[in-house]
Amino acid sequence: MYRSRIAGIGANVPENVVTNYDLEKMMDTSNEWIVERTGIRERRWVTQPTGAAELAFPACLEAIGDAGVEKKDIDFIIVATITPEHPMPGTSSFLQTLLELPGVPTLDIRVQCSGFVYGLSIADQYIRTGRYKNILLVGVEVQSVGLNLTTEGRDVAVLFGDGAGAVVVSRSDDSSEILSTHLGGDGRYAKELWCEAPIGYKSPRISKEMIDQGKHYPKMNGRQVFKHAVTIFPKVVYTAMRAQNWTIEDVDLVVPHQANIRIIEALAKKLGVGLDKVYSNIHKYGNTTAASIPLALYDALKEGKIKKGSNVILAAFGSGFTWASAAIRW
Ligand code: UT7
Repeated sequence: MYRSRIAGIGANVPENVVTNYDLEKMMDTSNEWIVERTGIRERRWVTQPTGAAELAFPACLEAIGDAGVEKKDIDFIIVATITPEHPMPGTSSFLQTLLELPGVPTLDIRVQCSGFVYGLSIADQYIRTGRYKNILLVGVEVQSVGLNLTTEGRDVAVLFGDGAGAVVVSRSDDSSEILSTHLGGDGRYAKELWCEAPIGYKSPRISKEMIDQGKHYPKMNGRQVFKHAVTIFPKVVYTAMRAQNWTIEDVDLVVPHQANIRIIEALAKKLGVGLDKVYSNIHKYGNTTAASIPLALYDALKEGKIKKGSNVILAAFGSGFTWASAAIRW
C-alpha cells in the first residue's frame, strides 16, 4: 500500500466583491441581520457568464505548480460541484478540455457541501492502491446565477458565494499523509436543502410553470439544517480524532465547511477550544459549498496556521444530508 498526501493547492475567486450593503439594494435584508446570523460580510459573484470549469482552471494550474508536477503528470481529474455548466456532461469534462489533458479520466461528484472531502477520500483510495500517482481534485461553485435575488429568496441568497479551490493529491514520500477519511449521509433529509427543478422524471423537465413557482431555486429549511449541522460537525471531528487516537490537544487546526459562523462557533465550543483552532473565512466568501473547504485550507496555509507536520482535521456537512471528515498530517 502507498500513502497519499496533499502535494499542492490553488484557489480562484471572481474579482467582483458583493457586500451585504449591495444585497440591501436588491432585497429586504440588512448588513446587521446577515453579519449577526451568519458572519458573512461579503462574497464573490461572477459578473459575466463563467462556467465552473472556467472558474476552476486558474486554481488547478496553481495547485499543479504548487505540487511541483506538470500538467501531463495528472492521471485523474475529480470535480466536486453542484453548479455544473450543464446537466451533462460533467464539469470535469469541460475542465479536462481547458487543461488540454485528453484521455485522462474525469469524474464529477455531487455530494454538495461534503463534495471536497468525499473527493479527497476517493483520491486517497486510488493513490493507496497504486492505481494513480497524481490526482487533481477540485471543489468549485458558481452559485450566484442560480439564486432568487428578491426578498422571497433572501434566506438562501445572502449565504452563497462563487469560488474554486483545487489540490493535487499525490503519492507521499515523506511524513505528510491523508491519514484517514470518514463519510456518511442520511437521505431522509434530502428535501431540507434542495433544488427541485429541472425534474428528472417529468416532461418537460423544466417548464414556465415550474419557473413561475421558483422550483429552480435552492430552498432550505434553515432551522432544521442548522440543528443537524451543530450536532454532526462535532461528531465527524471526533470520528477523525478517534481514528488517529488524537485528543483535541493533538489537533493543530480544524478546517470546517463554511456554512455559518454560529455553526463554527458551536463546533469550537463543543470541542472546548477557541476560534484560533477552528478556521473560518466565511466573512469574505460566504458559503461556497464544495469550494469552501479548499478555499479555507488555502487561506489557512497562507496565514501560516498550517505548517509542515501540522495535524489538521477537515469537517463537512451539507445537503443530502451528507457529511465527511479527514485527518491529515501536513
Ligand atoms: O451549507 C450547507 C449547510 N447549510 C447550513 O448549515 C445553513 C444552516 N442554517 C442557517 O445557517 C440559518 O438557519 C440561516 C442563516 C439560514 C437563517 O438563520 P436563522 O437564525 O435560523 O433565521 P430564521 O430562518 O429562523 O429566520 C429568522 C427571521 C425570519 O423572520 P420572522 O419569521 O422571525 O419574522 C426570517 O424571515 O429572519 C428573517 N430572514 C431574514 N431577514 C433579513 C430570513 N432571511 C433573512 C435575510 N435578511 N436574508
